[in-house]
Amino acid sequence: MYVMIICGAPGSGKGTQSDLIAEKYNLLHLSTGDMLRSEVASGSELGKTIDSFISNGELIPDELMEDLLCHRIDTLEPHIKGVILDGFPRTVAQAEALEGILTDRKLKVDALVDLDVRHDELIIRLLNRGKTSGRSDDNIDTITQRLHVYAEKTMPVNNYYINKGMYHKVEGMGTRQEILDRICSVIDKTMSQK
Ligand code: AP5
Ligand code: MG
Repeated sequence: MYVMIICGAPGSGKGTQSDLIAEKYNLLHLSTGDMLRSEVASGSELGKTIDSFISNGELIPDELMEDLLCHRIDTLEPHIKGVILDGFPRTVAQAEALEGILTDRKLKVDALVDLDVRHDELIIRLLNRGKTSGRSDDNIDTITQRLHVYAEKTMPVNNYYINKGMYHKVEGMGTRQEILDRICSVIDKTMSQK
């Protein structure tokens, strides 16, 4: 099974590109943000706790995220030929946990694609999406906090994968198709090395 991580700041296009990649390569798009939002929508007690983290632009605690991801990987349908992890790992502790989770299942990360988008463009995209998304975190105060948390806790994850030779920075500005083409050259190369 091919395993790729797509990462980048809030609004960098992880979800948009994951959907395009999933369709082109017949991979499964696993977004931890989407998983959490569906738990919130269910109205459960856990969902209420999760909502308070998301609405404040804070990360959900590592252990909860690791359990959630582990469960999702263990319930993958057997015909799945690969997954795109969107939004996980978001801390170095999650990256270390992911390595253990995958190794235990005889899997490994094949590539990490980091979408590089200018700060002002991120804010424009998120505020624009906020007009229709209904997401509790698409407002300027929460966006500012999400970007701060990203810089402090998630950017260090890049070094973890740079050291393992799996890191690929991709220019995330331009049209959706231009960005997809750049990502595809990373996927084609890393899939052929598998
Ligand atoms: P998550 O849902 O992952 O949100 P995020 O990382 O903040 O990123 P977004 O989903 O907002 O942006 P995106 O990069 O997917 O961009 P998109 O394609 O939508 O996480 C939300 C929260 O959940 C976190 O803050 C945290 O609380 C929690 N969480 C999730 N995972 C966690 C974890 N592992 N650990 C702990 N907590 C976790 O694009 C954005 C907009 O731009 C869209 O409107 C899109 O149409 C538009 N757009 C896309 N591409 C382009 C382009 N090329 N040109 C112009 N516009 C574009
Ligand atoms: Mg997203």
